[in-house]
Amino acid sequence: MSTDKVVHYLKDYRAPDFAVAQIDLTFDIEATHTLVKSRMLVNPVTKGQPCVLDGSAELVALEIDGETLTAEQYKLTDEKLTIAHVPDETFVLEITTQLYPAHNKSLMGLYESNGNLYTQNEPEGFRKITYYFDRPDVMSKFTTTIIGDKKRYPVMLSNGNLIASGSAEGGRHWVKWRDPFAKPSYLFALVAGQLAVLEDTYTTVSGKAVALKFYTRPEDRSKAHFALASLKHAMRWDETRFGLEYDLDIYMVVAVGDFNMGAMENKGLNVFNTKYVLASPETATDADFEAIEGVIGHEYFHNWTGNRVTCRDWFQLSLKEGLTVFRDQEFSADRASRAVRRIHNVRNLRTFQFPEDAGPMAHPVRPASYEEMNNFYTMTVYEKGAEVVRMYHTLLGEEGFQKGMQLYFQRHDGQAVTVDDFRLAMADANSRDFKQFALWYSQAGTPVLTVRKHYDAAARTLTLSLSQCIPDTPDMQNKQPMMIPVKMGLVGAQGQPLSFRLPESHDEVEEAILLLTQDKQDFVLSDVAEAAVPSLLRGFSAPVKLDYPYSDADLALLLAHDSDAFGRWEAAQTLYRRAVAANVAALKANQAMPEHDMLAEAIAQALDADLEPAYKAVLLQVPSEAELWEGEPEIDPALYVAARDDLMGAVGTAILPTLNHWRSWAYEQEQNSQHTQPHEYHPDLAGIRSFLNALRVWVVRANPAMIAFVRQQYDRLATNMTHEWGMLSAINHLPDVDRDRLLQQFAQRHGNDALVMDKYFILLACSQRGDTLQQVQAALNHPAFSLENPNKVRSLLGTFSRNVRHFHAADGSGYRFVADKILDIDGFNPQVASRLIQAFNLYGKLEPKRKTLMYKELQRIQHKTGLSKDSREIVDKILAS
Ligand code: TRP
Ligand code: ZN
Repeated sequence: MSTDKVVHYLKDYRAPDFAVAQIDLTFDIEATHTLVKSRMLVNPVTKGQPCVLDGSAELVALEIDGETLTAEQYKLTDEKLTIAHVPDETFVLEITTQLYPAHNKSLMGLYESNGNLYTQNEPEGFRKITYYFDRPDVMSKFTTTIIGDKKRYPVMLSNGNLIASGSAEGGRHWVKWRDPFAKPSYLFALVAGQLAVLEDTYTTVSGKAVALKFYTRPEDRSKAHFALASLKHAMRWDETRFGLEYDLDIYMVVAVGDFNMGAMENKGLNVFNTKYVLASPETATDADFEAIEGVIGHEYFHNWTGNRVTCRDWFQLSLKEGLTVFRDQEFSADRASRAVRRIHNVRNLRTFQFPEDAGPMAHPVRPASYEEMNNFYTMTVYEKGAEVVRMYHTLLGEEGFQKGMQLYFQRHDGQAVTVDDFRLAMADANSRDFKQFALWYSQAGTPVLTVRKHYDAAARTLTLSLSQCIPDTPDMQNKQPMMIPVKMGLVGAQGQPLSFRLPESHDEVEEAILLLTQDKQDFVLSDVAEAAVPSLLRGFSAPVKLDYPYSDADLALLLAHDSDAFGRWEAAQTLYRRAVAANVAALKANQAMPEHDMLAEAIAQALDADLEPAYKAVLLQVPSEAELWEGEPEIDPALYVAARDDLMGAVGTAILPTLNHWRSWAYEQEQNSQHTQPHEYHPDLAGIRSFLNALRVWVVRANPAMIAFVRQQYDRLATNMTHEWGMLSAINHLPDVDRDRLLQQFAQRHGNDALVMDKYFILLACSQRGDTLQQVQAALNHPAFSLENPNKVRSLLGTFSRNVRHFHAADGSGYRFVADKILDIDGFNPQVASRLIQAFNLYGKLEPKRKTLMYKELQRIQHKTGLSKDSREIVDKILAS
């Protein structure tokens, strides 16, 4: 492994020197290894350039136009194969490599899982398979021949259509696949092994039949029905909302238990983490079902936004990811509960992306540099990227946005392009100027939007003074003002919506988008009947932090009456945030915690209002610690845990009768529902159960004796994983022996189900109990646990590293434990290790004692010999903060 630090810069982009007209791959699968023969038709674009290929596999043979190259004719280093002189005209380059998939624990390139073979090539896995121009702007037509033992590898798949197959000597067989669409190497996929298939057909809007095939382990086949149904919904939705139709005769999804991320959109052959395919009501929660629908949609939508139009280079990753996340969010919102989905997206952004944007890894949606691309599959590229796409939609409306999409495909189908190309399509299709909008792609940091109000009763004008400030980040200071759409309305003292007129407009409106483009701008609204409370940033119209001096009474008014569902939720969030901040202040001053009667009253009233249950569930979410300490200097995490927990205790105790009333109500609703299968997934039932589960947590927090009641109900309700999960989550923090017993029983009952065992490990790792670290350490030896399985690592170690109380234990035990495991994992799976290191992102903002403790562990990681470049990039950035 090379230890030299290589930084890749966007500004250094150069078009490729070679094009590949055609590539034919042959995978010869043997018992101990796989031989890969690649035959490429290469066209020199710039003549006289050396041919530099990316790769690190064992090289067996190398030929140009049928002639074997001598050792002097090429140079092989750790990561490159350089052929100094190649023909000026089209030539045939043939390369043979030998791979050992059973020993590949990085889960990139070709690897073995459970006896089967799978590939993962995005972003730079293909170079572990063969030597190639492994960059997304080199697109080629692939054919793939696979030869393997009939018994061990009855199923052999690759991209596109199956064009031939046959028997071979020695009990072997072969298949040949051709993908008619040119694609970059990162979209290449191969799967071989013993797999069951669940099949269906989908008829596209123009009447074409598409074969749908879901491949799983035989024992999992019955759990793929929901994912298959989700795919059909996604295909129909993309036709109706975006006018986009599927383009091959076959669409395959393969589920694998060992996978670094969620899923991968390989052309015609998606590879999925089992977590996003397999579900039954007994083993998956309603949230799992919804995640499956979202991820199935996401990967399907990539067929157009990612595959047909792909990225010029990896700096442009958000071109496909931000856009596709926006598309999957809209798909889910159109399926059910738009307002609640939006709230979930925003909470996710605030909990994970805002801290990233304020920490050592802060980077723009289009990063300007990277050391290891795997480190840039981030919340910023995905989720903030989706917010950026959403802003086009907010500015242009559905019709204008779709016009932009059409122009984008008209111009760029079959190309590898940039986020500027996307922006220009949006601008040109709508005759808009989006030059300033480009700053959303190049400036990191969450903008702060400050708003002040002045009401002139005599003139009946209400002036909103808007200003913006973009914080410095490690990569950039003194930033330019951005284009910020602020959707707003006005709420009167009785809670009624107030109409107003925008400057230079005669129309009376109740909602408008103020477009802030300068540092400071005043917007004078006229014909305003009273000194209203402004409802700002409706629907979270821009990914910014809002600073407005609301009184508690203003917030209570908005919570009760804002016509915008997001606005009501936001008012509750602000009230919670203030209440926790007041508790933190009291703890720091060694004073008793303040009363929270007004908040408790407002929440109780909201619960009694006529709102959908899923919405009431999100009203009960107290902001996460990461949100609460944002912007604070010298953070003591323990204070925030205590302050937040105390708030839940105080409010919960104050409104316990209301909580209990709704808990019984939700329970009855579900049990007596008109649905024929009340324990199955359905958006309405899921809404009721999510409300019930939120209430369970609050009620048990306020009254731990409720554990007896839970124990009583447990066996009857545990036929549904959402209930089981909800009950266990509620009692998971109690020092009661019943908690351990129920968890043990859970682990025994589900011991053979890897995905349910993930839930067991999550429960252990997120517990607030005093003995959590010991229980987590013991779990490392549980037969169902493996450090080599990313789902297990994320469940046990990822969850523990977000357990604020225990990860940030004052004695440093949490830091030491996680650092030890990072060092173990880095040796074989750098991508998973470097994710885990980001638990230490808070380093620069911690109070001195914990900072010192973290420093020791970060140093220990930094000094490990042979540390991967993935981990090195992160640890260096954290220590520099
Ligand atoms: N393109 C994938 C997605 O959108 C991301 C992905 C899947 C990935 N597997 C990966 C990225 C492995 C890096 C490494 O969902
Ligand atoms: Zn994606």
